[in-house]
Amino acid sequence: MSKYPPIYYSDYLQLDTLLGAQKPKSDEYGHKAHEEMLFIIVHQAYELWFKQILHEIDSINGMFRDEVVDEKSIGIAVSRLKRVTEIQKLLIEQLRVLETMTPLDFLEFRDFLIPASGFQSFQFRLIENKLGLSEEKRIQYNNIDYLNTLEASHRELIIQTIKERSLFELVEKWLERTPFLNSQSFNFWQSYKEAVERMLDQDTKIIMENATLTEKKREFQLKNINLNRENFEALFDEQKHNELVKEGRRQLSNRSMLAAIFINLYRDEPILHLPFMLLSYLVEIDERFTEWRYRHALMVHRMIGAKIGTGGSSGHQYLMATVDKHRVFTDLFNLSTYLIPRSELPKLPEELIKELSFHYTKQ
Ligand code: HEM
Repeated sequence: MSKYPPIYYSDYLQLDTLLGAQKPKSDEYGHKAHEEMLFIIVHQAYELWFKQILHEIDSINGMFRDEVVDEKSIGIAVSRLKRVTEIQKLLIEQLRVLETMTPLDFLEFRDFLIPASGFQSFQFRLIENKLGLSEEKRIQYNNIDYLNTLEASHRELIIQTIKERSLFELVEKWLERTPFLNSQSFNFWQSYKEAVERMLDQDTKIIMENATLTEKKREFQLKNINLNRENFEALFDEQKHNELVKEGRRQLSNRSMLAAIFINLYRDEPILHLPFMLLSYLVEIDERFTEWRYRHALMVHRMIGAKIGTGGSSGHQYLMATVDKHRVFTDLFNLSTYLIPRSELPKLPEELIKELSFHYTKQ
């Protein structure tokens, strides 16, 4: 016998409330539209999953708020981030179910919804803000501030997230605190810079010695190498980097970028496995949301063509613009620009390799 009172399945899950929450407007207005039930259930399923995603992000942000994030927390955060990506895959797939409804079916009840829209999904906005989509980056449509489309209690919740530090900012600070970059015998910054210069010089040499290239093609390739050089210089020069941040072309601080590069380059060292996975999952979360936005925009195009949305936006056009503009971790994607082949990696000093290993590995 359990020491807890028995509970009935339906009561535990509050199925009366959950299953009593589908109230098609077309029934209410006496114009029964069969597909409205699907429309409601798909949206509700999304909102439930959004709740779960928020549950995970809140817990991760909580761990990263500590001044020192211990290794155990990183492991837990990684597994929760992975969970978020698995949910996102479901969210993308779910659109296919809704797409069994035809545009004509949708027209049967679309007018009953105006001006409600996914644009007012406060949980979706909470996810965006908690991940780190900044207010400056948001696309405005018809000069409408998304906050003004929400009712007061939801607006309050969102305003709170604008004040809090987002996952992006918390990870940035965590990266900035990464030790190892400057030990007494090893200055990663300097060694890496020299390795990059060697790599770019080698690339230039290959282009110069390539007899099959026309002058025009050679010039074009050398120009690209120079662009690469400028990109790298901005990374090595904090002031230049800060200017790019000001212009909105970079988001992460210089020191955190460097730490992220270090983690990516030396991810084979045992202590860096988890930090590397953490950064990879952040990239994946961003990628999956971008994928969802794109799929949703395509579905909307198919469903309403060039009509404006029920929320009053330019519909498909607005949604397509968010696909690229509402990404959060673009700098982590851009890290690949700065990776150099393993053979060119600065060799780490013995004492640092020891620090980056688990104790028992070295005995
Ligand atoms: C027939 C299906 C759907 C249509 C035609 C549709 C249409 C639209 C349109 C036109 C917008 C832009 C705002 C507006 O003017 O209303 C929008 C935004 C949005 N929709 Fe949908 N939608 C559909 C299904 C869904 C589903 C299943 C979800 C899942 C929760 C969803 C979530 C959202 C979200 C979160 C936004 C805000 C996106 C942003 O501002 O970045 N939509 N939708």
